[in-house]
Amino acid sequence: MSTSENKIVELAHYRPTDFVLERVDLTFEIDPTNTKVDARLIFHRRDGVDAAAPLVLDGDELTLSGLLLDQNEVPASQYTATAQSLTIRDLPESGPFEITVTTFINPQANSQLMGLYRTNGIYCTQCEAEGFRRITYFPDRPDVLAPYTITIIADKAANPLLLSNGNYLGGGNYDEGRHFAAWFDPHPKPSYLFALVAGDLGVVEDSFTTMSGRDVALKIYVEHGKEPRAAFAMDALKRSMKWDEERFGREYDLDIFMVVAVSDFNMGAMENKGLNVFNDKYVLADPDTATDQDYANIEAIIAHEYFHNWTGNRITCRDWFQLSLKEGLTVYRDHEFSADMRSRPVKRIAEVRHLKSEQFPEDAGPLAHPVRPTKYREINNFYTTTIYEKGSEVIRMIATLLGADDFKKGLDLYFERHDGDAATVEDFVKCFEDATGRDLSQFSLWYHQAGTPLVTASGAYDATTATFTLSLEQMVPATPGQPSKEPMHIPLSFALILADGTVATATGVTGGEVTGEVLHLTERNQTFTFTGIASRPVLSLNRSFSAPINLHLDQSPDDLAHIARHDPDLFARWQALTDLALPSLIQATRDLQDGKTVETPSALITALIETADDESLEPAFRAQVLTLPSEADIARELGRNNDPDAIHAGRTSVLAAIAEAGVSTFQSLFQTMRPDGAFSPDAQDAGKRALRNIALSYLTYAEQSPAPVAEAFSDADNMTDLLQALTLLAHRFPDSGETEGALGAFLTRFDANPLVIDKWFAVQATIPGAATLDRVNALMNDPHFTPGNPNRVRALVGSFAFSNPTGFNRADGAGYRFLASQILQIDPKNPQLAARLLTSMRSWRSLEPQRADHARSALLTIDRSATLSNDVRDIVERMLK
Ligand code: PHE
Ligand code: ZN
Repeated sequence: MSTSENKIVELAHYRPTDFVLERVDLTFEIDPTNTKVDARLIFHRRDGVDAAAPLVLDGDELTLSGLLLDQNEVPASQYTATAQSLTIRDLPESGPFEITVTTFINPQANSQLMGLYRTNGIYCTQCEAEGFRRITYFPDRPDVLAPYTITIIADKAANPLLLSNGNYLGGGNYDEGRHFAAWFDPHPKPSYLFALVAGDLGVVEDSFTTMSGRDVALKIYVEHGKEPRAAFAMDALKRSMKWDEERFGREYDLDIFMVVAVSDFNMGAMENKGLNVFNDKYVLADPDTATDQDYANIEAIIAHEYFHNWTGNRITCRDWFQLSLKEGLTVYRDHEFSADMRSRPVKRIAEVRHLKSEQFPEDAGPLAHPVRPTKYREINNFYTTTIYEKGSEVIRMIATLLGADDFKKGLDLYFERHDGDAATVEDFVKCFEDATGRDLSQFSLWYHQAGTPLVTASGAYDATTATFTLSLEQMVPATPGQPSKEPMHIPLSFALILADGTVATATGVTGGEVTGEVLHLTERNQTFTFTGIASRPVLSLNRSFSAPINLHLDQSPDDLAHIARHDPDLFARWQALTDLALPSLIQATRDLQDGKTVETPSALITALIETADDESLEPAFRAQVLTLPSEADIARELGRNNDPDAIHAGRTSVLAAIAEAGVSTFQSLFQTMRPDGAFSPDAQDAGKRALRNIALSYLTYAEQSPAPVAEAFSDADNMTDLLQALTLLAHRFPDSGETEGALGAFLTRFDANPLVIDKWFAVQATIPGAATLDRVNALMNDPHFTPGNPNRVRALVGSFAFSNPTGFNRADGAGYRFLASQILQIDPKNPQLAARLLTSMRSWRSLEPQRADHARSALLTIDRSATLSNDVRDIVERMLK
């Protein structure tokens, strides 16, 4: 286990290995508690390396059972083995040599879900980032690449299926009711992409013909009986393969592509070469059990893992500091895929919501770190929204800066130049510089400086000179280890919108570079002047969220309403309506704290209802607009001294005012906004359901009665509608008989489906208010709650801590104490899961003093534990610093 060794890994210390790995040949004899692993590794000493240098291999909780050098036993004097490493001395000065390492491991006892473990009777592996060293001693780092040959021997009846990476070589019967299968992966890969699966599973099969006419067998393995629920994932896979060929020219490179769904998994999914392993939550879907959000997630994650085949596998990372090289780029690719499959502006709105609610708080708190960090204590803790989402935004900015054609040139060069490499972020950026001649050195600060830049902007129109001046100032806040920052290169997409709704075209611009619709802000202070603007325009800035920044632009409600009505960019319209709503939500919070009554401005109410009624706008967009900034968004905007109860009450009163004024609109949307025909998970129908359901949510504020929602619950014929009704009942009328009835009916109906029961846990864990903690505690004893399963823990404990601001942040601190005790219980079994749950407290310093004190005490309780994992130790110490 990754115990707290307090060792910091530094980028500056990077150097290549002394020995080059040529080939890997692994044999597994599968056994529930005593699996034998023979690893035959062929190495040679790297040119120029000292002849005395020993070979040092990584291990984690391993015991060495056998060691051969070129098939001869190695004398004890020639090596040193500990649980964490194997050091072999006196190795040949030149030429290849073969090391055979034998270890025995216990998949059954592996509760960390790293390395080889057992889930629901299935053997599977998880090796990213450092799980392979829990299987055998190995140079377990991403810059060591080799082709792998794998032989798996296992009991045939229990494990008819034996899978690994690459192409199937063959198999047959073995002794004592066992059989074997052999696989060969010709593409050199690092150990983190190794995978093995053994067990008994059902399969859905299909095929794909690549752009050069090769046939690829596609197989999705799921538990027996669940095959029909894998159809959507298969369809998403085929669409991903086609899209990657058309959009990026990327073709698949093996004869077979497999996906295996397992029920115990720490993350969403894993891109092992040719053998993706998925959390079953992101594979299984049908209308009765999956919401529209589930379908969208499955499509995005299937695509994400598939896209890694090029961005991650063919071109991998030199070291883990480069993690965003594969993750940021692959997120960017899956975002673009979803945008092409669905509505681009609606997709962008959802992305930005996610970025602001997850990554912005990370970047503003004690866990802030650059997209390309320079040190870490536990790599598992760096699978963050900064690496993923901000990393993707940085690539989106490169595309915005360069334009589509030059972006493509740079990316094509990257694929060509680095295929087969373990590359760095610098290598990546250099491809765009070399392909276009553009200097991206200042832009690269996006990789190195943490913190969300704040841009303050103000515009002024001068009728006498027909000019519009835009003054901009940028400031990057201090973050841990980075007290002062350099000005960044910030691409700001903009438009000047005239009174008639058209976009002004300036005759000229001074003060800085403008390419097309993009302003390049590169100085700390910069003023752009646009000439030939005949009448006063309204400025629409950072359209499509071209840069991941906080923007302070003082705009009148009238100007915001103008953008909301006229900007051809739908994203900008949504942004304007959000900017209109936020001050009212903040004011409402303050008014309630001061004992005043809340007055919601009629301009906001009118703009929202007008949008809701506007049939020229797609329903999904209208639903996004009606979904006001969340309590967490308001808290972030307030920034400090937060009282979650006041925020909740303030937001509730604004929702009630909108609901009362718009009751007829919401009633009619609820009655008419239904998809026609049979259920389809497509974006259009999902949009209609979203609009209808948000209308129903407003009706609960206008009508104050559970009856219509209970009726919607009974009428629902798909999981999206059913879950929305259940959520509204539980959150708006927690103590009603209708809620009790619906929760009971839901449990009975989905009793045998853990993924659906997770929704039942999450709905209850997110009921606003102080009473929910008792409910969560009671649910921990429900027989459906299996504490070893990460999905269950995230559904109950995770939903409570991350998504229940009033319940978790109870004024008496009981929510924090509950979380601390959970962390201490989970940590010895699954440190990764424990560490991730703890990040729910990352914004504790922005709470009002009493809650902040309680939060600190809870963190100190964790900190005082003598037996913390390295994972939790790292997070808790950074949070307390
Ligand atoms: N590399 C995986 C992905 O983003 C995530 C992951 C990381 C999964 C570590 C498991 C362990 O697709
Ligand atoms: Zn990924």
